[in-house]
Amino acid sequence: MHYTADWEPSPAPEGPASWLTGPVLVFDDDGALAGRVRRRHTGSAPVVGVRPGEAYEVSGDARTVRAESGEDHAALLAGLDAPPVTVLHAWSDPRTALTSVFHLSQALLRRGLRAPVRLLRVHAHADARPDPLAEAFGGFARSADHENPRLVQQAVTVRTAAGEEPADALLRACEAELAADARAAAENIHDGDGRKVRRLRELPAAAGAPGSEAPAGVAVRPGGTYVVTGRAGGLGLLFAEHLAHRARVNLLLVGRSALTRERREALERIAALGADVRYERADVADRGDVEWTLAAARNRWGSVHGVIHSAGVLRDALLPNKTADEIDTVLAGKVDGAVHLDAATAGDDLDFFMTFSSLAALAGNPGQVDYAFASRFLNAFSRGREHLRAAGERSGASIALVWPFWRTGGMRVDEATEGFVRRRLGLTPLENEVGVAAFDAALRHARPEFGVVHAERDKLQRVLRIEPPAGGPAEPRPDAAVGAGSGGRGAAAKGDSTVEIELKGVLAELGL
Ligand SMILES: NC(=O)c1ccc[n+]([C@@H]2O[C@H](COP(=O)([O-])OP(=O)(O)OC[C@H]3O[C@@H](n4cnc5c(N)ncnc54)[C@H](OP(=O)(O)O)[C@@H]3O)[C@@H](O)[C@H]2O)c1
Repeated sequence: MHYTADWEPSPAPEGPASWLTGPVLVFDDDGALAGRVRRRHTGSAPVVGVRPGEAYEVSGDARTVRAESGEDHAALLAGLDAPPVTVLHAWSDPRTALTSVFHLSQALLRRGLRAPVRLLRVHAHADARPDPLAEAFGGFARSADHENPRLVQQAVTVRTAAGEEPADALLRACEAELAADARAAAENIHDGDGRKVRRLRELPAAAGAPGSEAPAGVAVRPGGTYVVTGRAGGLGLLFAEHLAHRARVNLLLVGRSALTRERREALERIAALGADVRYERADVADRGDVEWTLAAARNRWGSVHGVIHSAGVLRDALLPNKTADEIDTVLAGKVDGAVHLDAATAGDDLDFFMTFSSLAALAGNPGQVDYAFASRFLNAFSRGREHLRAAGERSGASIALVWPFWRTGGMRVDEATEGFVRRRLGLTPLENEVGVAAFDAALRHARPEFGVVHAERDKLQRVLRIEPPAGGPAEPRPDAAVGAGSGGRGAAAKGDSTVEIELKGVLAELGL
């Protein structure tokens, strides 16, 4: 099944506003939101404002913590008479906020949660363009929820209107979310049109297929030059070889490690298909490395026509055991790499700029708050890049290709996990030919977010809600990999929260 993801309208459900009665922590830069929350708070418990600073300080109902200090966040909790019921985390710099949300989540989990805590990561911005770092918290939130259902996190983006005080808009959005079911959508946007949540929507199987009337999307051009990050191995190598099968192309593969004999032979195989293929050792997290690598491609071949950003690493660990360094390492390849590649190719006449995202971005995964954050970043980054393209500041379709797990590649899962996921989710690992077909479909559809799953439809729809295509349900099909069967419509009748909880249960059992 091929699907896309986007924001769709969903008015906030009604519910009791009981979350602003207990102890509340409000992380904001200037105390403006904390002040407003104090005025709305109906209980006797304190509302504690928390600002970023250079040392841990206590002053009445205000605290200062160092974002990067686990001790400061632990001291903040230890200094409260009772554990917080609600946390509104609204620091304006998302990268600093990520560090703080991580340390706070860790401190909460290490102390043990006897009652649920709602943690809203809220971000105000005035731009209509997506803020990828703000949206990336959706991946963090979903993963954290899998690890401990008592830590209920949400990522809330608030688009402020011209002249509107950000703290007013933030308070309005927080109150709407806190009045809603605690298990409501993990990610939402509040803007002038109301509230929107993320929806996965199936793409018609025929759209963009060869011979159909849909637009042809992006083609691999003969003589074209393509930069593929992610070592000369795994999926990067697979798609380099695929491009060489499609046309006589120039390929620059980028990774940090030296070529092994096996990989050198693989490159020779690709060259035998007619491609001019080179390998450069470079770190995509280093802007200078990315710039000289792109310059080397232009020097050799004249211009660059496409980018496939496949680089990434995993540092899986449950939140209580994870370190800030591990998070930085995971973000370096995917997040910094994408930003540097985009900046370095801003002036190139690209046909496409593709990044490899993961299902973890949309479903979360225990042990992967960082990887899900980075993957979810790529999805939003892709849509943000489309805004720049519309403004004439970028060229080439932006495509975040959301992969489930593959049978091949360095990030494949072990046999036990594969068996479990197949039995419970009906999800089977992507075989090379299915993945390659999805890659071609992603180029044809040329959408900023394009996902593929290979699954038994009924089981999948129980746990990962993918709506029928816009404009009506897809044709029922016996082949589980395409079309929308009765399970899809049945599952679509359920609330978001039901679906998310089932998924949470299944993934938690995986113990990944
Ligand atoms: N395989 C799967 O099941 C699966 C599922 C979902 C998504 N994905 C995504 O698809 C992509 C490729 O997956 P894969 O299985 O092929 O992984 P892989 O075999 O581990 O290849 C990724 C390679 O990226 C390179 N890399 C990491 N950081 C880098 C950096 N800063 N600069 C340059 N290169 C860097 C590493 O090679 P060096 O050590 O040589 O740098 C690494 O081996 C990943 O981004 C992953 O998130 C894969």
